Amino acid sequence: MTRTHKSVILAKRPKDNIIPGETFKLVSDNPTPSASDLKDGEVLFETNYLSIDPAMRGWLNDTRSYIPPVKIGEIMRSGAIGTVKASKSSKFPVGSYATATAGWTEYKILKDTELQRVVVPKGGRLTDGLSVLGMTGLTAYFGIIDVGKVKAGDFVVVSGAAGATGSVVGQIAKLKGATVLGIAGSSDKVRWLKEELGFDDALNYKDKDFAKKFRAATKHLIDVYFDNVGGEILDMALSRAKPHARFVMCGGISQYNTSNPQGPKNYLMIVSMRIRMEGFIVFDYAKEYPRALKDLAQWLSEGKIKRKETIIKGGLDQAENALRDLYNGVNTGKLLVEVKPAEEQLKASL
Ligand SMILES: NC(=O)c1ccc[n+]([C@@H]2O[C@H](COP(=O)([O-])OP(=O)(O)OC[C@H]3O[C@@H](n4cnc5c(N)ncnc54)[C@H](OP(=O)(O)O)[C@@H]3O)[C@@H](O)[C@H]2O)c1
Repeated sequence: MTRTHKSVILAKRPKDNIIPGETFKLVSDNPTPSASDLKDGEVLFETNYLSIDPAMRGWLNDTRSYIPPVKIGEIMRSGAIGTVKASKSSKFPVGSYATATAGWTEYKILKDTELQRVVVPKGGRLTDGLSVLGMTGLTAYFGIIDVGKVKAGDFVVVSGAAGATGSVVGQIAKLKGATVLGIAGSSDKVRWLKEELGFDDALNYKDKDFAKKFRAATKHLIDVYFDNVGGEILDMALSRAKPHARFVMCGGISQYNTSNPQGPKNYLMIVSMRIRMEGFIVFDYAKEYPRALKDLAQWLSEGKIKRKETIIKGGLDQAENALRDLYNGVNTGKLLVEVKPAEEQLKASL
């Protein structure tokens, strides 16, 4: 009997929010490849964990961007960490772990050039390869260091601060000698940022007095604003920018689920305060990933960077709900979907 596996395809482009049961379709009867289907240099990848990222909403829009949109009927694009179950590659033997853009599928044949080896430092774990030692950690690193040019004495404000990227941004800024204010969406997240991650201050943007508290907390004005959310928080940050402030434009999650995104009202502050506002995409730094991974792995193993994961169990059936809930702030730290738990955690290899 042919073995089958599940995958999730894009069924209909959403106009605004993702609609579970309509935007995506679960396909349960894909024939599962076996070792005899592999060509030289290929592996059979079994997905353990999926990375759930805000950018995925943008990949559903049929517009010009840094990456082409997912096509209707195509497996939903996603980062993943998985196990090599069969191999015709000397680089990835059976049983090795790897990260890849495998998508929302339980199994996939991949070329070994599409896989990245997972390296776990002392104190690290397998899933760090999708967070601190993966795309979000790299985004935090290049965003705050190379784009934000953070330096000792800076006053740094980070939005989306309790998420995968923001939580690492704030900790790197602290390591570089900055004072850090984080903005997040719940009192528990605010507590985590201050008490466990060592942020100097943190505010809940859902508090009714948030605008007043933000003005008070930024009375000495902002040197670096790391923007993950856009919208009203970006406007507030613009109004509190120091002359020559650096605004690192990493993302704008508050505007991802609308067909009518709003730009900043306070944009004239860019002129009057001579702000440098710069967007970036982490892939631009691909050649420099080894430099960043070395630092991130060292900070992680020394306990200088702490991290949290929110892991949604229940397999691929839960992927669309997890993506919808990301925009409602379900996660503290990195949001992952567990497709199949890894058989064993990797031993430290650094
Ligand atoms: N430029 C790049 O190369 C690059 C690469 C990776 C990620 N990014 C961007 O980095 C940002 C963070 O991504 P991530 O993967 O680390 O996700 P994340 O921060 O772990 O998760 C998203 C968080 O955004 C917050 N949020 C949702 N709606 C919001 C709203 N309307 N206003 C304020 N906050 C809201 C939620 O937390 P709360 O409870 O705090 O609301 C949620 O937990 C995103 O904008 C993403 O697109 C950019």
